[in-house]
Order: sequence, then C-alpha cells, then structure tokens
Amino acid sequence: MIRKATPNDIFHMVRLEKSAFKTTLGEKFLLQELNDNPFSFYYVYELNKTVIGYIGFRVYDDQAEMMNFVVSLDHQDEGYGSQLLSYCLDELEKKDVKTISLEVRKSNKKAQHVYEKMGFKLSHIRKKYYENEDGYVLVKEVKM
Ligand SMILES: CC(C)(COP(=O)(O)OP(=O)(O)OC[C@H]1O[C@@H](n2cnc3c(N)ncnc32)[C@H](O)[C@@H]1OP(=O)(O)O)[C@@H](O)C(=O)NCCC(=O)NCCS
Repeated sequence: MIRKATPNDIFHMVRLEKSAFKTTLGEKFLLQELNDNPFSFYYVYELNKTVIGYIGFRVYDDQAEMMNFVVSLDHQDEGYGSQLLSYCLDELEKKDVKTISLEVRKSNKKAQHVYEKMGFKLSHIRKKYYENEDGYVLVKEVKM
C-alpha cells in the first residue's frame, strides 16, 4: 500500500536511508518536511504493516524536485520502487507539475534504469557532485 508519510514513519524512513546511503536527511529535517513545509510531498510503501520504502519531492509551481527515494535492501528488485515512483509521478501530474528533476550518482545503474523506464532523460552532469563522484541531473517533462 502506498500512502502519504506521517511523522510516525520518520523512524523507519531514517532506518531505510541509513541502510542504503549510510547517511540520512535527519529526523529534524524530515519532521519539518512533513509538518511545516507546504511544498513537500512524501509517500511511503507499506508492506505487511512495515515501511519498506519512501520517496519525497518538493514542488514549486510547476516544477518538482526529488528529495530522496529508497527501498529496503531486502525488498529491492521486487518492483516496489517502480510502483512508488510511478504513483508519485501520477500525483505530481495531478498537481499540474510540468518538469520533474532529480540527481543520481553516475555509478547508480539500478536507479538510473528505473528513472529511464519512467521517462527521465539526462539533462546535464554535475562534476564531483557527490564528493568523489559525478552526479547526473535527470529531467522528465510531463506530457500535456
Ligand atoms: C533505486 C531504488 C529506489 C529502486 O527501487 P527497487 O524497488 O529496487 O526498484 P524496482 O524493483 O522497481 O526496479 C529495479 C529495476 O532495476 C533493474 N536493475 C537491477 N539492478 C540493476 C543494475 N545493476 N543495472 C541496471 N538495472 C538494474 C531491475 O532489473 C529492475 O528493472 P525492471 O523494472 O525493468 O525489471 C532502490 O534500488 C534503492 O533504494 N536503491 C538504493 C538507494 C538509491 O540509490 N536511491 C536512489 C537515489 S537517486
């Protein structure tokens, strides 16, 4: 089940981030995003009452930017990430978003595969965006 994230999910969101990235956006940051930021949209994937993935966007006018996207290691490659992203793209479309952008590590071929499948295209490269690694900026133009 995909649903909006609530402050009760933050513990699990941080756990997922730490296992995938070794770092986290932080509980305080996520709490502000969920409670105080009207431009933020976060969704979780709940499977058997456990949060196994989350995705977050910020939306400004007709532009959306991905903040984070993660599925737990033991449930990757089972289609949940694609479902989560696809669900969000539909929601963003309903909000009349025209352009969606995100950054991904050059080496992150799995994520790039999912983004390309969903219609994202390379916009430009940010040299050494991730300290020692280039970042790809991908953009999806929502069809009218
Ligand atoms: C990226 C991520 C969110 C995708 O979620 P997921 O649930 O694993 O994704 P799905 O199972 O829906 O799809 C994975 C796809 O990648 C493919 N894939 C797996 N390993 C791959 C690789 N090394 N290279 C290319 N494609 C790969 C799978 O075959 C599948 O393709 P398909 O849908 O065409 O069959 C998840 O893997 C993750 O949390 N990764 C770590 C965190 C991360 O990198 N987040 C993105 C930051 S920009």
